[in-house]
Amino acid sequence: MHSEPFYDPAKSYLDNFEHGPFGLFANTSPSFPAEPPRHQFLGQPVFAPFGIPAGPLINGRFVKAALDMGFDIPVYKTVRTRRQPCHPWPNVLAVKVEGDLKPDQTLVAGTDYSEPLSITNSFGVPSFDPDLWQPDMAEAAAYARPGQVVVGSFQATLPESGSVAAYLQDFRLGARLVKETGVKVIEVNLSCPNEGTANLLCFDIVRSRQVVEAIKEEIGSLPLMIKTAYYKDQTRLQAFVRELGGAVDGIVSINTIAAEVLDASGHQALPGEGRLRSGVCGSAVKWAGVEMASRLARLRAELGMNFAIVGVGGAGSAEAFDEYRRAGADAVMSATAAMWNPRLAQQIKEQAHEL
Ligand SMILES: Cc1cc2nc3c(=O)[nH]c(=O)nc-3n(C[C@H](O)[C@H](O)[C@H](O)COP(=O)(O)O)c2cc1C
Repeated sequence: MHSEPFYDPAKSYLDNFEHGPFGLFANTSPSFPAEPPRHQFLGQPVFAPFGIPAGPLINGRFVKAALDMGFDIPVYKTVRTRRQPCHPWPNVLAVKVEGDLKPDQTLVAGTDYSEPLSITNSFGVPSFDPDLWQPDMAEAAAYARPGQVVVGSFQATLPESGSVAAYLQDFRLGARLVKETGVKVIEVNLSCPNEGTANLLCFDIVRSRQVVEAIKEEIGSLPLMIKTAYYKDQTRLQAFVRELGGAVDGIVSINTIAAEVLDASGHQALPGEGRLRSGVCGSAVKWAGVEMASRLARLRAELGMNFAIVGVGGAGSAEAFDEYRRAGADAVMSATAAMWNPRLAQQIKEQAHEL
C-alpha cells in the first residue's frame, strides 16, 4: 500500500532538494473538486481541513505537488533568517515500535518502511538564505487555488552574542521575511530548543510569550499559529494556554517525541554528537497527538478562547483523521504517513466521516 516516498531517505537532503519530489509527487497536475470549498481554516476557504505539517515539503516544488495532490493546507518547511547546514545523512530512518511509543523507550532503527510506519527524523532544521527561500515560498503560496492555503513556518537562531534581545530580534526578522512572501498564515516553531537552555522553547512560557508578542508586532493581523511539543504535565499545558491561547490564532501539536535510537548492533544509529536521542514521528505517536488535541479543546472551552487546533502526529488514515476531529481538532496534518502515501489527502476526502 505504501508507494515510493516523495522525500527519499536513501538520498541526502541536498539531493532531495535538487531532484525531488519523487514518486507520484514528481509528476502532478492540479485537479480540484467540482463543488466550492465547504470548510474554513483561519478565515480561508479550504476543500478539506487536512494538510502536511512543517518539514517534509522542503521547497516550493514539494509544496506545489502537495497542493496538486489535494493536501489543502501544506506547510512550507521551517526556515531561518540565515543559512543553516543540514545534519549528516542519514536524516530519516524507520523505527520499529510495538503499538504506542512509551516514555524512555530505546528503539532500533532500519530501513524497513512497512506499516505500521514510524520513523525518526534528524535534520537540525536546515535553511538556505532568505534570498533563496523567499521567492520560492512566495511562488508556492501564490500557486494555492481558492480552497487551499499555504502556511509559512520559521524559527529563530541564537545569535553569536547569545543575548535574549538579539534572539527575539531574530524572531522579528524571520516573521517579517515570511510575511513578505505573501503567505496567508504564519507558523512559528516553538517546539525547537530554547537556545541557550536545555529545554524546548514551548516549555518556557515567559519566553514563548515574548516571542509571540515580538512576532505579532511585525505581522499585525496576519494569522499566527504556534507549533508545540507534547506536554506531559497538565498544569504546565494549562499555564501555557492561559498565557498564549488568547494571543495566537492556532496551536499546532505535536512535534516529534524524543527517544534513544540504536542500530541493529546496538550502536548509535545517527552519526554525530547529540544525535543518540532523536525525534520519533508516525503511527507510534498518534496517541500523543490525539490526546493533545482533546486536552487543548477542553482548555479552549474552559478558558473561553478561540484559537484553532491543528492535530498532528500519526494521522495516517481516514480513521485517524476522524479520531482527531472528534477529539476537537479543527484541522489535521500528516508528515510521516503522507511522505509514503501521496494519495492520503484524496483517501481522506473519499472516506472520512468527520469532514
Ligand atoms: C522529514 C520531517 C521533517 C520535519 N521537519 C520539521 C520542521 O522543520 N519543523 C517542524 O516544526 N516540524 C518538523 N517535523 C515534525 C512534523 O511537522 C510533525 O510534527 C511530526 O512529524 C509528527 O507528525 P507525523 O507523525 O505525521 O510525522 C518534521 C517531520 C518530518 C517527518
